[in-house]
Amino acid sequence: MTKSDQPSPLEARASGPLTGKARVPGDKSISHRALILGALSVGETRISGLLEGEDVLNTAKSMRALGASVERTGDFAWAVRGVGVAGFAQPAAPLDFGNSGTGCRLVMGAVAGCPIAAVFDGDASLRSRPMRRVLDPLELMGAKVVASEAGGRLPLTFQGARDPLPILYRTPVASAQIKSAVLLAGLAAPGVTTVIEQEASRDHTELMLKHFGAGIVSEPEGRHGRKIALTGQPELHGAAVVVPADPSSAAFPIVAGLIVEGSDIVLPDVMTNPLRTGLFKTLREMGAFIEEAEARGDAGEPMAQLRVRASRLRGVEVPPQRAPSMIDEYLVLAVAASFAEGTTIMRGLQELRVKESDRLEATAAMLRVNGVKVEITGDDLIVEGKGHVPGGGLVATHMDHRIAMSALVMGLAADQSIKVDDTAFIATSFPDFIPMMRALGAEFS
Ligand code: S3P
Repeated sequence: MTKSDQPSPLEARASGPLTGKARVPGDKSISHRALILGALSVGETRISGLLEGEDVLNTAKSMRALGASVERTGDFAWAVRGVGVAGFAQPAAPLDFGNSGTGCRLVMGAVAGCPIAAVFDGDASLRSRPMRRVLDPLELMGAKVVASEAGGRLPLTFQGARDPLPILYRTPVASAQIKSAVLLAGLAAPGVTTVIEQEASRDHTELMLKHFGAGIVSEPEGRHGRKIALTGQPELHGAAVVVPADPSSAAFPIVAGLIVEGSDIVLPDVMTNPLRTGLFKTLREMGAFIEEAEARGDAGEPMAQLRVRASRLRGVEVPPQRAPSMIDEYLVLAVAASFAEGTTIMRGLQELRVKESDRLEATAAMLRVNGVKVEITGDDLIVEGKGHVPGGGLVATHMDHRIAMSALVMGLAADQSIKVDDTAFIATSFPDFIPMMRALGAEFS
């Protein structure tokens, strides 16, 4: 709703080696969670390194609208004074989450445990995305959809439960958003709320709940899954949160550094939680030089400095079980695969169809328009790498930040320049992407 009236196109062209050190912004998943848990705690939460992108700023606004005090105290430094578990006040106006599925779905979970009604809304992309996946378990816990568009889509009016029930819920797809919504609602329920996932998804909510003082236990379930049990009605205490750099944002300079000949770049403090690093593993299997140093951790979240050097890549097969640990990275992996020698097969990508855009179709279109042979078979994406990319295409970004950044990265090493129709949505997750890439040597005009 906020953008697209003024599209900002940009062109990327073959650049000299990318060199230098660049700090990518704070992790988006952790930034949303720090604001929400800070708002549900008593006392003060001090956050450093917060991602000041539009998605997270919308979550900050919604926390204010629900009664928490949220203040910017310096560059990327924020202070939250919370209202305590189940303490949200009824907001006076609709909550607008802009482009952000994560902000919207996590806040739905937090609101589900409070006896208030709230209107949830977002931009055209978010209005088209499925919400039933979180509404179903939240209704089992006692919350209700009062009004919505077809299929539970936004805008919707949501009534939280006066006496929320703890449930045992098996997530139908590997989704940290569904898991987190149930756990956040479970904070207000008496007894134990349990989530079972068949494939482990990112565990930032669990780690941060523990950090804020909740009783939460996570154990392996089956071959790849997890069972998470949260004891309800804890007193959460405000805590310090240091947000590491976002590996999903680091993915763009990393792939750029690999495909632009002669590049050698350093990215400090990148989060290396194993449930987020499927891309790094895959790129290493393709022959990428990605070196980790200065490993450390904060509040259970590991981070390290990454050094990336231009590398000759070869095609690989990426198994479906790896998807949850790199779900946001397939677009830029497809770019790397286009510059590789040989075929890359990415399996089990059905979830890509319900992201900020249909990323399965959008990835194929981005490659095709730039002369790369690509095929979608069922839920698999198959890219024929030829060691170089002809380029010359105009890429439609479909209100999707990651399409815009992936296409611009592709243009930095393609034979002919690549244009994107609109860079405005990059501000949702990586506001300084263009100047940061330029400082490394990227040529955009
Ligand atoms: C996120 C979970 C993932 C991911 C999104 C962030 C989160 O979505 O794509 O960008 O912070 O929980 P799903 O839960 O739909 O897989």
